[in-house]
Amino acid sequence: MSLSKNFGGIVAVDRLSFSVGAGEVLGFLGPNGAGKSTTMKMLTGFLAPSGGTATINGHDIINDSLAARRIIGYLPEGAPSYGEMTVRNFLEFIARARGFKGREARRKAAAAIDRLNLESVPEQTIETLSKGFKRRVGLAQAILHDPQVLILDEPTDGLDPNQKHEVRSLIRDMSSEKIIVISTHMLEEVQALCNRAMIIADGRLLVDDTPAGLIARSRYHNAVTLVVEEPERVASILSEIPQARKVELREGELTVFPAEGARLFEVISDAVKEYGWSVSELRLEAGRLDEVFRQVTQGTVGK
Ligand SMILES: Nc1ncnc2c1ncn2[C@@H]1O[C@H](COP(=O)(O)OP(=O)(O)OP(=O)(O)O)[C@@H](O)[C@H]1O
Ligand SMILES: [Mg+2]
Repeated sequence: MSLSKNFGGIVAVDRLSFSVGAGEVLGFLGPNGAGKSTTMKMLTGFLAPSGGTATINGHDIINDSLAARRIIGYLPEGAPSYGEMTVRNFLEFIARARGFKGREARRKAAAAIDRLNLESVPEQTIETLSKGFKRRVGLAQAILHDPQVLILDEPTDGLDPNQKHEVRSLIRDMSSEKIIVISTHMLEEVQALCNRAMIIADGRLLVDDTPAGLIARSRYHNAVTLVVEEPERVASILSEIPQARKVELREGELTVFPAEGARLFEVISDAVKEYGWSVSELRLEAGRLDEVFRQVTQGTVGK
């Protein structure tokens, strides 16, 4: 598949091509205006592509769009429409639109209310809910029919830390038997949730990797950071060891970057003992995702 979308002169999505399988939780990352939401809208049939198409579990989103939509649950950006409906009425309405009837529709709505912790607000109209609760109603309608494919546009945006945790475990629980695509600006969410990450900028795919692969691109990968008394003196000693490529002192933290393939941690902890330095912190760095994100998307315009 390959998807493109132009808005007048703007190329929002530029020949984006990928496939996702069951058990994958794919995270879309990218600066504001990168084309994440536009891609999701095309996958879910809310927007017609200007070029190309995509296949969802064997169903073409253009020629077989009804079947494709049936197996998808979609959380759009923002709040659900139908703000004047109560949470329960809205979810029962969605259940009926999904083909469930009578008691079954009521049961599906009740189950979704339960899963998204909406028990305190079922009779409240959606427009009077707080932002996070609106988000949870949106998620409830997305998962209500137990779809094979979930496309969630910033699912934890606006949620409090407890609900973020709940929604992430909900996504993790569902991930073994479903295909899940989420977009997010929270890089820690990618590490917590996704087993695959795509970085998009200006409508184009820049990186398609595992979170571990992504973090390994960081220049901090396998670096060692210390907080130590007299950091300047320690820095000059550490910069002499053959395993160190570079030493940086920033905001009271000393970071030693490894020479190609070198292992630093043991060498440095030995030096700490040998010289008797007074160290209050010593850690091996996994890498920093925010730095990788900046490095990869640097030079892209953003809109
Ligand atoms: N209906 C529209 N008409 C014109 N331009 C649009 C429309 N929808 C989106 N765009 C443009 O397409 C580009 C991609 O927007 P999109 O919403 O997909 O970005 P995004 O990656 O989801 O960004 P964000 O992180 O801010 O949510 C932007 O330049 C945006 O202004
Ligand atoms: Mg968006």
